[in-house]
Amino acid sequence: MSVSSSDASYHVSDRNLALELVRVTEAAAIASSHWTGRGQKNEADGAAVEAMRKAFDTVTIDGTVVIGEGEMDEAPMLYIGEKVGAGGPEMDIAVDPLEGTNLCAKDMPNAMTVVALAEKGKFLHAPDVYMDKIVVGPDLPEGVVDIESLITTNLKNLAKALGKDIREVNLCALDRPRHEEMIARAREAGARVRLFSDGDVAAAIAACLSTSQVDIFAGSGGAPEGVLAAAAVRCTGGQMQARLLFEDEEQKERARKMNPGRDPDRKLGLHDLADGEVLFSATGVTSGFLLKGVRRTKAGAQTHSLVMRSKSGTLRFVEGIHNFRTKTWGVS
Ligand code: FBP
Repeated sequence: MSVSSSDASYHVSDRNLALELVRVTEAAAIASSHWTGRGQKNEADGAAVEAMRKAFDTVTIDGTVVIGEGEMDEAPMLYIGEKVGAGGPEMDIAVDPLEGTNLCAKDMPNAMTVVALAEKGKFLHAPDVYMDKIVVGPDLPEGVVDIESLITTNLKNLAKALGKDIREVNLCALDRPRHEEMIARAREAGARVRLFSDGDVAAAIAACLSTSQVDIFAGSGGAPEGVLAAAAVRCTGGQMQARLLFEDEEQKERARKMNPGRDPDRKLGLHDLADGEVLFSATGVTSGFLLKGVRRTKAGAQTHSLVMRSKSGTLRFVEGIHNFRTKTWGVS
């Protein structure tokens, strides 16, 4: 379905819908950029959530948040199950209004606002637990890396497939004590390891872009972020595997309830995380691997976004120049 008037509605593969999504992530990025470097991560997140929620009001879809800010009683807006959009075809929505709240609060690289969209029922309903993740880029033999293999095996296989010496393979990982062993083994095998402090959606995407100098992203991070990363990886043609990690039986039971009939411990392929046609948009809040951050100007702000569709596989970087004198969605 195409859009020709303001009351038209979209199909998930609609090219115009991709641009509507950019508006949503741009609004959240501009709102949170007010808080960049102010040391107040909750305020930055709150501003992003509010602006994102409001921006969805103009998008002609019947959206249901499946990856959001938490359960209904935990979050005032963009909670799991919340309906968003101005009406239209049913779609599931995954959001991270501010991915890297600390990065924004400390004005460090890679904070961004993220939205992904899929047909109903196509995203994994991920509880707020950790997820083990491994991502490599496109044009590699299927299964070149496996989440069940040792990092050394994966790096060796990847180096061979890339036609590189292992010493030139770059692994990207969250700088966390839980990754110390993986990092040590990777370095022993000869690979370089680029560590980052937060924001693993950007790192997963970086592993899929030839411009990033990242060949592989591995390690555990948030499960909701894993679903958003999967949507992006689908659009780039990269590979991803994952597994939910549970600290106790209660967490596992939540995963079971959210995905009835599925084994919560199973290895997840890319299509288990994000299936069907997906759309993805991210806007930089602070500059990083992928995106430039919001640049506030006298009259407004400039934004830099990445928007992608799995159907076409086109990655589009969008520069926005926003004029606060004429803007209607009231960002500060
Ligand atoms: P927030 O934006 O919610 O702070 O998440 C940032 C993040 O770094 C994610 O990108 C990542 O998936 C997760 O936190 C890692 O969690 P932890 O900090 O507990 O290792």
